Amino acid sequence: MSSPATSAPVQSFLLRHDFLIRRLHSLSGLVPVGAYMCVHLLTNATLVGGASVFQDKVFTIHSLPLLPVIEWTFIFLPIIFHAVVGVWISRNGKSNLQQYPLSGNRRYTWQRITAYIAIVFIFTHVFHLHGWFQNEWWLKNIAEPLGMAKFRPYNAASSLASALEGPTVIAGILWSIFYAVGVLACTFHLANGIWTAGITWGVWLTPKSQRRASIACALFGLFIGAAGLSALVAAKTTKVDAAVKIENEMYDARIQSHSITPDDHKRSAPHTAEEPKPVPVQ
Ligand code: HEM
Ligand code: HEM
Repeated sequence: MSSPATSAPVQSFLLRHDFLIRRLHSLSGLVPVGAYMCVHLLTNATLVGGASVFQDKVFTIHSLPLLPVIEWTFIFLPIIFHAVVGVWISRNGKSNLQQYPLSGNRRYTWQRITAYIAIVFIFTHVFHLHGWFQNEWWLKNIAEPLGMAKFRPYNAASSLASALEGPTVIAGILWSIFYAVGVLACTFHLANGIWTAGITWGVWLTPKSQRRASIACALFGLFIGAAGLSALVAAKTTKVDAAVKIENEMYDARIQSHSITPDDHKRSAPHTAEEPKPVPVQ
């Protein structure tokens, strides 16, 4: 915890630049964080089409050059910035409630409640699935004992399904509830956030345009929320063994066509492709 002496200059810096910081916070919520979440949930929803469709999308993402740099620049750092400034606005910033004449106080309060749920969800979710350090030592000593980093890009659907199953039935139910609440909270936060951002940026200022924007944002929220929930249902109903078989065939095909190089850290299942059968000696 910082002492009052050290936090005072920081506080006064933030208060002096309140306008700019709020604009940057608003922008980061829309782009890249909001945009990323939409793409992420829509990509995950392709699992509804089956393990091969989802695997195809994950191969594409994991073939991007400098993936960690892209992730840090466009995902992690903007989320951290948005979250830290968001917490600061909630606790110390001036209330901007008077900016939203038509919004009930309830929506304003829920924007903050869902923000706190989003912090807990995103933090836990990333440690649950994202393979931060895909090396033997990390996986064996840290990730596996803590039940983290369960997602393996070359076994996308099956490793996602196993991670959401958890070690027991109860754990599986708790993960489902956790993900459903997280997805719905993040979706509400984005949909309502787009509406408040429209006021922040002066896009809809009259009562009539705000009412129309409210409906559009609600429809958008329903669409993205449905995509997120269908991804969850698809993951929960994926048959792990059948998915592993499909994924391994796709992996072999890509190795043979040299579009990927073998990487055991990205795979969870043993190589199950059948060896060519020896020709019987007459
Ligand atoms: C049903 C819901 C969701 C599913 C099935 C899901 C699935 C996944 C998977 C499989 C990964 C690992 C990707 C990888 O390592 O390549 C991941 C990472 C991540 N997810 Fe989600 N996710 C869901 C909802 C969300 C939501 C609502 C957010 C909010 C913004 C979110 C944010 C992230 C972030 C920040 C990462 C790490 C970034 C990265 O891996 O590049 N996820 N998710
Ligand atoms: C990680 C935890 C998060 C925290 C602590 C947080 C915090 C906040 C807070 C406090 C506000 C209200 C600002 C105000 O009324 O002045 C807000 C607005 C917003 N947030 Fe978040 N947020 C988080 C995650 C997200 C995510 C994942 C997204 C996108 C999916 C997002 C998108 C937005 C948008 C678009 C706004 C509206 C900005 C505006 O009114 O101008 N936030 N956030």
